[in-house]
Amino acid sequence: MTAALPNLPALTPDDALNAICPYWTMFPLDFPLGALADGRPGEWVLDPFCGRGTTLFAARKLQMPSVGIDSNLVAVAIAQAKLVSPRPASIVRLAGELLDGPAAREPQGEFWRWAYSPAVLQALCRLRAGLIGREDAVAVGLRGVLLGCLHGQRNKRAASYLSNQMPRTYATKPAGAVRFWRARAMSPPELDVLEVIARHARRRYGRAPAPVPGAVRLGEAAQALAGMRRRFDWVITSPPYPGMATYRPDGWLRGWLLGGPPAPDYDRAGQLGALRGELFIAGLARVWRATAARCRPGARLFVRFGALPSGRGGDPGELLLSSLRLAGGWEVRSLRCAGVPPGNGARQAGQLPGAGEHVPEVDLLALRAG
Ligand SMILES: C[S@@+](CC[C@H](N)C(=O)[O-])C[C@H]1O[C@@H](n2cnc3c(N)ncnc32)[C@H](O)[C@@H]1O
Repeated sequence: MTAALPNLPALTPDDALNAICPYWTMFPLDFPLGALADGRPGEWVLDPFCGRGTTLFAARKLQMPSVGIDSNLVAVAIAQAKLVSPRPASIVRLAGELLDGPAAREPQGEFWRWAYSPAVLQALCRLRAGLIGREDAVAVGLRGVLLGCLHGQRNKRAASYLSNQMPRTYATKPAGAVRFWRARAMSPPELDVLEVIARHARRRYGRAPAPVPGAVRLGEAAQALAGMRRRFDWVITSPPYPGMATYRPDGWLRGWLLGGPPAPDYDRAGQLGALRGELFIAGLARVWRATAARCRPGARLFVRFGALPSGRGGDPGELLLSSLRLAGGWEVRSLRCAGVPPGNGARQAGQLPGAGEHVPEVDLLALRAG
């Protein structure tokens, strides 16, 4: 089964791939692009807490190969989608083949009946079943596209998202979502899944930057680094704030699409943000130590970091400096205020439970000691 790609206006810059799917606490593309301003094509870039792969995309734009690590499967799937270059038509062809495949079992319950129309839910289940275990570039691209259109706001023009009204950055929990839809008598949209996929595929991959070598590893950063052989010239990263460990439950619907359970997953394994105080500092120090071991002398480490509002978790600059002192191997060159994150809910400080007064973030630069 094939579908014609709809006629879309010419795409302006090639950053659309970076926005393929939002992620809880993503940082803006400007941060890694600015950090890598002196980078040279071919120099290797690392992000040990890569989230949606913003650093990896910035590196790709600059023709620098990169490696990302994250302990959350959803982050890894989005970041992987930033490294591949499938043709939009190939993504649509694969989606069509999977949609023509055998019927797939659907999750049961009120949430699913309110979230998706019956035809859309069956389509999603077929795509989900067909993509599990596939790692080729076209499947990685289709997975990224699906993660990006799985849920989001409804608009009056052509439907962009497959779900009933939901935020795009995170998934509402099932009971709250059903309450919301029922109170407003909002029914899920009836739409052509293949057409939505085609539109997103064309938009995200129509003008992606030229591909560069790279990889994304699923795992705890210090452990994953210990198993690597490569040497890096640049590290650009943003560790979770202490106390910030809701990445899996906030991305539970996307986690389901990747093969996870049809309900929020509260497992905090591998989440540094689940630790507080000295334990957090020690955990972060382990990652800096493992990172230093994989970096060339003179390699630059750029970190953006913040804290929970109301002072919980401690001063971000002090935490960062303590963790680097404990790790050894890094010479801190500068620590400056990065300002208060925008309150649009996309960055860490905008999303914290009870977040009222945002704590300014800090930007740190350190060099790998020679
Ligand atoms: C602040 S987010 C990174 C956001 C990223 N800069 C972006 O633009 O999307 C921190 C990430 O660290 C991951 N993480 C937390 N603890 C980890 C650990 N011990 N090892 C690897 N990743 C971890 C979380 O899953 C989360 O995706």
